[in-house]
Amino acid sequence: MGEILSAIESRRSRRVISGRPIPRETAELLLRAAHLAPSCANNQPWRFVAIDDPETLDRVKEHLTGGNYWAKPSPLIIAVSSQADLDCQIPDGRTYHLFGCGMAAMNLMLQATELGLIAHPIAGFRQAPMKDILEIPSEYTLIALIILGYPTDDLSGLSEKHRAEERAPRDRRPLMEIASWNHFAPASGDKD
Ligand SMILES: Cc1cc2nc3c(=O)[nH]c(=O)nc-3n(C[C@H](O)[C@H](O)[C@H](O)COP(=O)(O)O)c2cc1C
Repeated sequence: MGEILSAIESRRSRRVISGRPIPRETAELLLRAAHLAPSCANNQPWRFVAIDDPETLDRVKEHLTGGNYWAKPSPLIIAVSSQADLDCQIPDGRTYHLFGCGMAAMNLMLQATELGLIAHPIAGFRQAPMKDILEIPSEYTLIALIILGYPTDDLSGLSEKHRAEERAPRDRRPLMEIASWNHFAPASGDKD
């Protein structure tokens, strides 16, 4: 198996992170990895805010949803935002900014994994106050936050559910439920 697949396999959305600071150079490397992602017409629709200032981190963490309590020790959070006008909008209804941001986020998370970091994407936050704190213009969508941190072995801060998930094997549907050869085949349980 190639090294890339092994990096992909070792990336997990883990929740036991320490507050140990992440150096600026490491954060810059993550941003560079993200920025090397492909995008429609090379539009580079991703806009990142890397948050490492303790006061700003504290303010941002106030607006995580309750289930994301585990992100509180994080010393570095990267906010991913964009808007449709920054990328291809094909008249038949296809818009590409979210696709581009997803690819950039994945580059960032794989690079973080390779550096021994946990990189956990989340949608569980209150967008409006978070955008205010980060001064993200109103026409942008704050798509996701990537919670970063070095791993620890101390699971004591996690809920029982999250402790079990932390130890559980990766959960994926069978491959041929989500892929097919030569024609589209809906997976059982999908909406028509
Ligand atoms: C767009 C997006 C939003 C997510 N939001 C949250 C979240 O708010 N809280 C959380 O704990 N995990 C969140 N996750 C992590 C997923 O639960 C996780 O990726 C999924 O369970 C698969 O596990 P794996 O990443 O370890 O393979 C999110 C992931 C993505 C891609």
